[in-house]
Amino acid sequence: MTSDLSRRYFLKVLAVGAATSAGALSACSGNNSGGQAEAFGDVTAGNISALLVGQVKAVPGAPVFVGRDAGGVYAMTTTCTHQGCDLATGVSSSQQAITCPCHNSVFSFNGDVETGPASTPLEHFKVDIATDGTITVHGGATVASSVRTAVS
Ligand code: FES
Repeated sequence: MTSDLSRRYFLKVLAVGAATSAGALSACSGNNSGGQAEAFGDVTAGNISALLVGQVKAVPGAPVFVGRDAGGVYAMTTTCTHQGCDLATGVSSSQQAITCPCHNSVFSFNGDVETGPASTPLEHFKVDIATDGTITVHGGATVASSVRTAVS
């Protein structure tokens, strides 16, 4: 009898623990990447005429931001380096910052961590600008965060 009660208690604890874990997991909409940048190939990211100096914009349909500063154009992942949530909706132009919707990490417009829990900056990717102004981001080619593609 004692072992039957112990077994039932054990199963009850197990069930509560599983429900709690599932709830905790569903609270974060991470991509299960563990904070690794989501992979993608070459993507078109609009025309340079629509990207102003000081702007960072999410590229529709791809896990990447394009940004422009005085040095030129750059691209960086929209995957939060903490637990992989999508940062695409977190851009604040007035604060020049990107806030993660999951645990409120804040990144600068160059992808540097300003506030944790994230501790790793956003990965940057190579950018080309065609003669007609079309921006292409090369998701398979990472670059240093200081790299810019000049606007001619
Ligand atoms: S996933 Fe935790 S702060 Fe972004």
